[in-house]
Amino acid sequence: MRAATMAAAHRLLLGCGGLGLALLAVAAIAAGAGPAAAVVGKKTAVVSLRELDGWGAARQQDRPSGRRYADAKRAEMLGERKKAGAARQTATTVLELKHHSLAAIPDDPASRNAYLRRLLAADEARANALQLQKNTRASTQSSAGSSAEIPLTSGIRYQTLNYVTTIGLGSGPAANLTVIVDTGSDLTWVQCKPCSSCYAQRDPLFDPAGSATYAAVRCNASACAASLKAATGVPGSCATTAGAAEKCYYALGYGDGSFSRGVLATDTLALGGAARLDGFVFGCGLSNRGLFGGAAGLMGLGRTELSLVSQTSSRYGGAFSYCLPATAAGDTAGSLSLGGDASSYRNKTAIAYTRMIADPAQPPFYFLNITGAAVGGKAVTASGLGAGNVLIDSGTVITRLTPSVYGAVRAEFARQFGGYGYREAAGFSILDTCYDLSGHDEVKVPLLTLTMEGGAEVEVDAAGMLFVVRKDGSQVCLAMAGLPYEDQTPIVGNYQQKNKRVVYDTVGARIGFADEDCSFV
Ligand SMILES: *[C@@H]1O[C@H](CO)[C@@H](O)[C@H](O)[C@H]1NC(C)=O
Ligand SMILES: *[C@@H]1O[C@H](CO)[C@@H](O)[C@H](O)[C@H]1NC(C)=O
Ligand SMILES: *[C@@H]1O[C@H](CO)[C@@H](O)[C@H](O)[C@H]1NC(C)=O
Ligand SMILES: *[C@@H]1O[C@H](CO)[C@@H](O)[C@H](O)[C@H]1NC(C)=O
Repeated sequence: MRAATMAAAHRLLLGCGGLGLALLAVAAIAAGAGPAAAVVGKKTAVVSLRELDGWGAARQQDRPSGRRYADAKRAEMLGERKKAGAARQTATTVLELKHHSLAAIPDDPASRNAYLRRLLAADEARANALQLQKNTRASTQSSAGSSAEIPLTSGIRYQTLNYVTTIGLGSGPAANLTVIVDTGSDLTWVQCKPCSSCYAQRDPLFDPAGSATYAAVRCNASACAASLKAATGVPGSCATTAGAAEKCYYALGYGDGSFSRGVLATDTLALGGAARLDGFVFGCGLSNRGLFGGAAGLMGLGRTELSLVSQTSSRYGGAFSYCLPATAAGDTAGSLSLGGDASSYRNKTAIAYTRMIADPAQPPFYFLNITGAAVGGKAVTASGLGAGNVLIDSGTVITRLTPSVYGAVRAEFARQFGGYGYREAAGFSILDTCYDLSGHDEVKVPLLTLTMEGGAEVEVDAAGMLFVVRKDGSQVCLAMAGLPYEDQTPIVGNYQQKNKRVVYDTVGARIGFADEDCSFV
């Protein structure tokens, strides 16, 4: 991890954990032969097929202010009485964001094929689990219609396309822990000693006994009841062991068979070196299942009051943003900024905002409203546009669209792409629109532009349009999928968010997008 100083802030690094899903690493090459300009015409990019060779190597608008807790509220939540903290000043801390790759994509075509199938099956498990929280019917039925071949329960095992960052926890000294960054959940947790059942992780296990500032949350604290219920769906349970004081136990399930269970605790959180937060509430996980890519745990960036965003709101003003790198190449990383200081961004276009929507039935999630779509600059029409809340998630890979919207986007993409002379190829897993691009030095790609409520336009980067199944380019697919039912919740996945600055402003209740090159080296 590295730190760079910025105006009244410092920078943490955020890495991409997993797969070299860099795919079309998108050295978008100029139409004309000029090496740098990426865009041909307006809404189309030309990418080099040569880039393909490299990739395997490596919710009702609510104003949350009433729910956010200031220092006094925090103390109360922990069953203490404490005066409100000092004057509100917000800072920005930038962390490095990376793919955590335990396993590089195998080179051998058969292994690579199996690997990518598992990856997409795991992604389908996640997308289904997100539906599950709203509506059981949808999930049960959709698994029948999908071509993912791994049962939901084992999904997380192969979930490798997650982004990770490093936090410090505890004191004397702080332990550096690599955690998965998740905008779709709230409670931050790490695996803890003494584990009754832990999966293998890269960092040493966090040892509460070794931290002078560690404390278990009291059972009578509201964190153990209402806050935990909002974050996980169930309140904590109290238990005593061998004469020790009562402790608050949490149980967190991710809907796909993976879980973390343990003691709700507080300790000092360090973000990017100097930024420290005392009394950060987190889960000390004693029984955890799912490989979680070898990460030490998970950072919850959702909307309820136990999320890291809420707990740090007096420092960071309830704002964060990220920039997801397009490649998983070893030493490149994107960034996770806590705080809203735009001087930490490297955005190439102005930030266009749309309304952030909250759904009381699905507390952690961030939603927005997509009112229009265009492919290669040509608008499409579909009944599903503007019809329902769309979830934006850092943990889902492939964007899922309702059948009407996906059908329209797919048809227009196929019309234009086919018109360039590219031959169709067989579908792959959840991806049904594939081409044989072998023999083409460069590929001209129509880009998808989404129009958000309020008029913000977000053009998907060329890196987010195509998914390279076969390294030789003979099977390259449109990197999006349709949901089985029109009333399901569409998801904007991380594959389509690459090379964007995505800003979550929970106090202003808005989400912003700008183009940015997300590869820090
Ligand atoms: C919670 O319980 C502890 C001891 O068990 C007690 O000291 C504290 O005052 C209680 N807090 C509240 C808010 O009731
Ligand atoms: C954690 O990382 C920081 C920054 O790289 C380093 O200075 C510190 O020694 C590390 N702490 C431990 C316990 O390894
Ligand atoms: C980056 O975003 C900021 C905040 O919206 C804006 O002021 C600035 O002009 C943007 N930079 C570029 C190069 O567009
Ligand atoms: C989305 O925005 C459009 C245009 O403002 C509006 O008509 C529609 O009701 C909105 N849909 C949702 C789900 O908020």
